[in-house]
Amino acid sequence: MKRHILIMTLLVSIPLSFSHAGSTVVNDLLKDYATQGAGTVDAEQGKQMWQKVFNKNGERSCASCHTKDLTQNGKHIKTNRDIKPMSTSVNPERLTDGKKVNKWFKRNCKWTFGRECTAQEKANFLVFIEKSSKL
Ligand code: HEC
Repeated sequence: MKRHILIMTLLVSIPLSFSHAGSTVVNDLLKDYATQGAGTVDAEQGKQMWQKVFNKNGERSCASCHTKDLTQNGKHIKTNRDIKPMSTSVNPERLTDGKKVNKWFKRNCKWTFGRECTAQEKANFLVFIEKSSKL
């Protein structure tokens, strides 16, 4: 009986550890950002930066397209196209491809802030998005 329980536990825990593939991508990205100068990551800072409105080219923020609630659909303010939620809890495809994340950080930071994000800002955004996924 004991052995049976052990096998059951193994069978259940192995697939669970694989289903966290997304977090591995995030951990790798966070390591990259640390080597690029990011210090302690701060989800609250990420949240504030997400909502902060920049006025250089009209009112722009990350929330303009992605909204403040990351579990909801967003809408591209220029093309009006729907954008799927950022939270991995409702959209498991998010944060599963490091190249994609970096590509969009680059494009979206330039569009929103008029400059690229720092490694620190990117790290903060990542933990903020991850945190919003656990609510
Ligand atoms: C003008 C609209 C717009 C703004 C503003 C915007 N984004 Fe995006 N973002 C998009 C679109 C479009 C995509 C790609 C389509 C998709 O993945 O649904 C995307 C994708 C992303 C992704 C990829 C996530 C993944 O794993 O799929 C990240 C990360 C991201 N945005 C972060 C940000 C951050 C941080 C800001 C603020 C600096 C921001 N975005 C501002 C439109 C926007």
